[in-house]
Amino acid sequence: MILVTGSAGFIGANFVLDWLQIFDEPVVNVDKLTYAGNLRTLKSLQHNPLHIFVCADICDRAAMDELLAEYKPRAIIHLAAETHVDRSIHGPENFVLTNVVGTFTLLEAARSYWSRLNDAGKAEFRFLHVSTDEVFGSLSATDPQFSETTPYAPNSPYSATKAGSDHLVRAYHHTYGLPVLTTNCSNNYGPYQFPEKLIPLMIANALGGKPLPVYGDGQNVRDWLYVGDHCSAIREVLARGTPGETYNVGGWNEKKNLEVVHTLCDLLDQLRPKAGASYRDQISYVKDRPGHDRRYAIDARKLERELGWKPAETFETGLAKTVQWYLDNQEWSDEVASGDYRKWVETNYAQRA
Ligand code: NAD
Ligand code: DAU
Repeated sequence: MILVTGSAGFIGANFVLDWLQIFDEPVVNVDKLTYAGNLRTLKSLQHNPLHIFVCADICDRAAMDELLAEYKPRAIIHLAAETHVDRSIHGPENFVLTNVVGTFTLLEAARSYWSRLNDAGKAEFRFLHVSTDEVFGSLSATDPQFSETTPYAPNSPYSATKAGSDHLVRAYHHTYGLPVLTTNCSNNYGPYQFPEKLIPLMIANALGGKPLPVYGDGQNVRDWLYVGDHCSAIREVLARGTPGETYNVGGWNEKKNLEVVHTLCDLLDQLRPKAGASYRDQISYVKDRPGHDRRYAIDARKLERELGWKPAETFETGLAKTVQWYLDNQEWSDEVASGDYRKWVETNYAQRA
């Protein structure tokens, strides 16, 4: 079986749902259920005997040791993290705890477990660490895309803690021989994304008749990848990646934020038209994010060359599917938008007036 951390979150849940559609290999799903973790997303797996959910904190060494001893996974797919850049600006501490100390704790538990496996088990075991393109810092409009050899230059507390975790993962391979794999991926979008991130936030605000808060001049660039494509990349790297290597994952979809918001508004105008008005009328420019990285762009050729992976969705097909999913599943967004979520929205956006 495999053990997946952070699998009640956006990418983790999509990964587990896809995995159990494709394979009949069991999954132990480990998540602390922070504000970002949501068991409603995993409702369809409630009675699936191949899915075991364990509520635990990756910073809890005893719990991690017990889980590994009990379930004896052949691989750990590590996604658990604090992930929202704006939250890391308001309160970096949890980011250091989960992303750095949590990854360290999990690595220590994995090293101890792995060192006691027989030779075949040792050779088969993988620790796959899911990271981000934000560790590479910010590009100018003319810089080449990030490659696997781009030096690290993280700019936010979030990306600095992800960079720290990447370095620890690398060191555990170099020093102890732990068979690790690291993926550095660009911005994901798709079903079940918490409505604090750009795309689901804009959809929720548009449908709720609220302003669509574009930071700064709206010209910051991100590369967008449909979440199902990220999940297929993780599966490929797990199956055939070389231990110790890192793989960039991207969608070849560089877009300015304003372009993304315009496209979303146009899709909503078609699918859920408002009488006599466009959703574009709700766009509102607000104060910029401190230290806002200007451009991210990913060169994903290594993954294509070595493992044959390519994204299946274009930005247009992926975004249309995503908007339709949010329209069909509005109760999911309503349910996750708890009191805590409303408090966050007030805190973050009050300061951007
Ligand atoms: P998310 O915020 O939606 O989910 C994170 C999950 O981790 C939640 O279910 C949360 O409960 C859990 N978690 C947090 N702290 C924990 C702890 N201490 N112990 C156990 N569980 C804990 O995040 P996501 O967007 O799904 O991102 C998943 C991973 O992918 C992260 O490592 C992130 O850095 C990386 N990543 C995300 C993106 C993106 O665009 N979302 C892009 C590249 C990489
Ligand atoms: O690049 C990968 C990263 O993508 C992941 O590692 C992170 O976990 C994930 O959160 C995401 O980080 P970003 O900061 O790029 O994502 P976010 O959705 O917060 O913002 C995307 C862009 O949109 C960014 O330039 C800021 C802007 N933005 C965001 C929000 C929430 C707005 O203009 N308005 C908003 O209200």
